[in-house]
Amino acid sequence: MGKVQELKEEIAQYKAANKDALEEFRMRFISRKSVIGELFSEIKNIAPEERKGFGQQINELKDAAENKFKSLVKELGNQEEEREGQAVDVSLPPLTDTLGSIHPLTIVRARFIEIFERIGFTVSDGPEIEDDWHNFTALNFPENHPAREMQDTFFIKKDPDIALRTHTSNVQIRVMETQEPPIRTLAPGRVFRNEAISARAHCVFHQVEGLYIDRNVSFKDLKHALYYFAREMFTKDTEVRLRPSYFPFTEPSAELDITCLVCGGKGCNICKYTGWVEIGGAGMVDPNVMANCGIDPEEYTGYAFGLGIERIALLKYEIKDLRLFTENDIRFLQQFKSQGF
Ligand code: DAH
Repeated sequence: MGKVQELKEEIAQYKAANKDALEEFRMRFISRKSVIGELFSEIKNIAPEERKGFGQQINELKDAAENKFKSLVKELGNQEEEREGQAVDVSLPPLTDTLGSIHPLTIVRARFIEIFERIGFTVSDGPEIEDDWHNFTALNFPENHPAREMQDTFFIKKDPDIALRTHTSNVQIRVMETQEPPIRTLAPGRVFRNEAISARAHCVFHQVEGLYIDRNVSFKDLKHALYYFAREMFTKDTEVRLRPSYFPFTEPSAELDITCLVCGGKGCNICKYTGWVEIGGAGMVDPNVMANCGIDPEEYTGYAFGLGIERIALLKYEIKDLRLFTENDIRFLQQFKSQGF
């Protein structure tokens, strides 16, 4: 009986600071080999008239041990939770939101389309893997003419030639082959040229082709559209300059320059101190090209242009290296978070 009393006190005072202490308690008072278990096996040695009282006592002891064990488990759990709670450092700044941003090339393309949609242009699509006819021949590149070498082509197959398109002008042909004038369309897309990748050049880039075919379309209309575009895309005082040039598919042909936005036309290293930067080519669609597509050049005239999306984005956002567009560095991309279309 004295032993039972002793154990009762021990149980009541037991404190478990950790899991090991809890396990110790379990071994000592709950498990099959516990001291209480031993007491049960001693019942047979007790005088019969005392057995009942003794049995009652150790049953109570057993209940006390089980209740204590439950409360120790609970206490330890609470302590752990508390400790975990303390691991949260409430002085840390909150997690920033994880909203994405729109890629600058996507912004420029969307803006480009929006500007031309306002004056009646639609959007057309064409293949990136193209045959010789649509990328070169129908565009009036003569067979074996050095003009084909203006563009370093990635060929996929020879005879008949299949290549990655070197410009979006292939879509001009596809549209003219399948649609009747009046045609007013844009063709944004990816183009490929065999060039070494550097800050200023890439083997994959993007263009937007523009095509307008109708009766009485003149060079004046082309100029006007390009002025309108430059002022909407850049700033209201952006100036446009057309420099005589050569493309097999246009006659006359011009290269399109705009005021350098970085220096405002004063001259800097971006514009090579000329105050002007080139953003693409344009011209009146060559009568041969129309005829190649089954459109009568006696009845219709038209203009076309092809502008570089990267070029425009570089100027608009003053980006110094073309490679940033494809590196997917989120520090770069996040700078466009606040930019809408
Ligand atoms: N295709 C030309 C290039 O990639 C750009 C171009 C120039 C497109 C004049 C045109 C155009 O439609 O009329 O260099």
